[in-house]
Amino acid sequence: MSAPGDRLRIHTGDITRLAVDAIVNAANSSLLGGGGVDGAIHRAAGPELLAECRTLNGCKTGDAKLTKGYRLPARYVIHTVGPVWQGGGKGEAELLASCYRRSLEIASAHDCRTIAFPAISTGIYGYPKDKATGIAVGSVSDFLSRNAIPETVIFCCFDEQTAELYREAVAAVGGV
Ligand code: AR6
Repeated sequence: MSAPGDRLRIHTGDITRLAVDAIVNAANSSLLGGGGVDGAIHRAAGPELLAECRTLNGCKTGDAKLTKGYRLPARYVIHTVGPVWQGGGKGEAELLASCYRRSLEIASAHDCRTIAFPAISTGIYGYPKDKATGIAVGSVSDFLSRNAIPETVIFCCFDEQTAELYREAVAAVGGV
């Protein structure tokens, strides 16, 4: 098994375009769609995604649930619910780390070799980007150091500024 840092990638662009085994959705606890990356994923996947999401009975903050990818190039969507930023004293860091860990556990259970994450909670939910990036890279590299699957994790950044934050954080764990 290669070092965790060697299994991390950074991509700048739209996560709905990625032909990977699973993309992660930054959803809300209803799992019934919304704005941001959630809206983009539902639009690109088509109405069958919402129909499957309706059968899941929602999802708790920090947890994740899997659906098929329908019209997306990705085989699966793993829907996770990040914390709303409330100043940092409400367990937000633990909940955000749990989103990454639970998504990777589900990906591993479905033999997903490649998975792409958006920057969970850093849009509408207001999590400071630098703090969220550290948690994302830290929790993913911790999981990879203990698990062979997924083989490769892509951090999909919507803008170049976010990608630069990820480059710094990934370099700090010896990757890319
Ligand atoms: N591909 C990759 N990243 C994207 C894309 C995309 N197509 N679109 C946005 N981002 P957000 P949250 C980035 O707001 O903060 C929804 O209404 C964006 O730049 O999508 O977890 C849900 O239903 C940001 O860096 O998710 C929830 O109610 C990151 O994705 C709520 O928003 C996350 O921003 C969740 O808020």
